[in-house]
Amino acid sequence: MINIPKGTKDVLPSQSYKWQYIEDAARDVARVFNFKEVRTPVFEHTELFLRGVGETTDVVNKEMYTFEDKGGRSMTLKPEGTAGVARMFIENGLANSPLPVKTYYITPAFRYERPQAGRLREFHQFGFEAFGSASPETDAEVIFAASSFLDRLGLKGVKLELNSIGCPICRNEYNTALKKYFEPHLKDMCETCRVRFEKNPLRMLDCKEEGCKKITAGAPKILDYLCEDCNNHFESVKSLLSAQGLEFIVNPRIVRGLDYYTRTVFEFISGDIGSQSAVCAGGRYDNLLKELGGADLPAIGFAAGIERLLLLMENTSAKMPDEQTPVIYLAGMDARSRAECFKIATYLRGKGLCAEIDHMSRSVKAQMKYADKIGARNVAVIGETELELGEVNVKRMSDGFTEKVKIQDLYTYLK
Ligand code: HAM
Repeated sequence: MINIPKGTKDVLPSQSYKWQYIEDAARDVARVFNFKEVRTPVFEHTELFLRGVGETTDVVNKEMYTFEDKGGRSMTLKPEGTAGVARMFIENGLANSPLPVKTYYITPAFRYERPQAGRLREFHQFGFEAFGSASPETDAEVIFAASSFLDRLGLKGVKLELNSIGCPICRNEYNTALKKYFEPHLKDMCETCRVRFEKNPLRMLDCKEEGCKKITAGAPKILDYLCEDCNNHFESVKSLLSAQGLEFIVNPRIVRGLDYYTRTVFEFISGDIGSQSAVCAGGRYDNLLKELGGADLPAIGFAAGIERLLLLMENTSAKMPDEQTPVIYLAGMDARSRAECFKIATYLRGKGLCAEIDHMSRSVKAQMKYADKIGARNVAVIGETELELGEVNVKRMSDGFTEKVKIQDLYTYLK
């Protein structure tokens, strides 16, 4: 037998309704916030992620699924949604459309990580990206949209953590301070940190090595280095969120794992999904479009991991609607009545009701058992008498209540 690749998961027929529930909630949040769906390829030129996500990130350094195609081009399965949507925005001249351009996506993403609960090699993201607005209202709107999405799924105990990592101007000064702080500790830090020290000291704050974590704990805080504009922006975002009653804590340690961020960054954190605590995360990326060769336009977005949401919903027993089951199972006693079952089912299906019939030549008794197993809400047995009278006994499975219904009235009755 050939097994599923490590770090990937099948969605089984008995589980897919949970995915649909989350995806429906995602689409509905997008609708009320007026974000429009976009779809971009699963693979892109590797260059896009090198430049977009950043060469000092773990995602680019260690986790990308990169391959050469038959034309000798280097391609990469998208490790996240933002870079592809930014490329789409630039390539299709969307900078010329009325701004902001507000988009959303539901996409698979691929990272070669060590699999564990809530961490997969193929996972799925629901994300928002808003292009063209630098205003703090857009930050607040995007964060609020993420929060309402999580609320809608009934997720409790998810905390919003917020930070600002400034712009290149204040970041420059901050990087100098970080280097000054880290220099005497470098000999005790990991190899990756030493590389990051040269290339991008901010990334050192993201190191998961225990020894490095102890050292980074005492590092200068970015919030003390924000320039006036970045500081004002951050203050406005915070007061907009507070005015909406959205609770958050400022966590100056959030730097995010991707290089494109500027100013506002945020994470929705849960203590109920093991070590992979972020269910949803994002931030501003005001320089990405320009760096990818597009217009100098700001942007902000977030992405939520669908598998992590599912895990969290399971771990916290969040309410999930029951799976939709057939409204009626039509059991035929003989060849003629089976044909009638097929006809009635076709009619009901045409009217939009889910009806089921026998596909396995089962006896009536076995059909009833099957109807029960698949959770059919009503059952009607059809035989010669029923055909003659043109009416059937419809049995409600939840309590056994049975009622005679004319076949021609079945739809109205079941509806
Ligand atoms: P990210 O924090 O790398 O950000 O990922 C966003 C979410 O995707 C995480 O919070 C998590 O729920 C999920 N996720 C990430 N990696 C995995 C994994 N290996 N297995 C399962 N779930 C995972 C981004 O990807 C940014 N593009 C978000 C963004 C959009 N920023 C601005 N716009």
